[in-house]
Amino acid sequence: MTGLRLAVLASGSGSNFEALVTALHAQSPHRVVLLLGDKPGLGAYARAERLGVPWQLVPYQGRPRAEAEADLNRRLQAAGIELVVLAGFMRLLGADFVRAWKGRLVNIHPSLLPRHPGAHGIADSYASGDTELGISIHWVDEGLDSGPLLRQASFARPAGASLAEVEARIHALEHEHYPQVVRLLADRAAASMPVGWGERV
Ligand code: GRF
Repeated sequence: MTGLRLAVLASGSGSNFEALVTALHAQSPHRVVLLLGDKPGLGAYARAERLGVPWQLVPYQGRPRAEAEADLNRRLQAAGIELVVLAGFMRLLGADFVRAWKGRLVNIHPSLLPRHPGAHGIADSYASGDTELGISIHWVDEGLDSGPLLRQASFARPAGASLAEVEARIHALEHEHYPQVVRLLADRAAASMPVGWGERV
């Protein structure tokens, strides 16, 4: 099977980026060939250097979002990217960009969507008192964390668990499931049987 060329977009520490690279490069023909970040100094860049994945900064500050997204798009095209994986990318993507990548653009969110969308999924889940906590992996559409779900994974909140404990459980679930789902999406795309919009995996 010919492997796919993947890009990861990140705004933070990049632990999901690292989990993806480690799993995919060890166990599949697919390759993360580019990390794109939206601001300087991200922890994700240091991981990319350690892992030997090229990274680029796509500046958002000081220019309209549409311009930044056109830049993003150009870099993805130039690198021959076939699947775009958002991993802690804290920007809402505009309709043109989302339409251009529909069915090839996936995100992970640290709550059981549709509960607790937005930038504080873990803290909001924790504060809600929900007894079931977890993660959602979904296609990206024009809304905020609103695209069709590909997979959810959850656990029962342990009695008396601290926010830090819950956070660690959620990240562990992310690092387990995101590489699995991305691998499946890439395998299916490589076999010309892409996972459909609305299909769960
Ligand atoms: C993850 O919890 C992800 O679900 C959320 O942002 C966090 C990114 O963490 N969207 P990292 O940068 O992958 O460590």
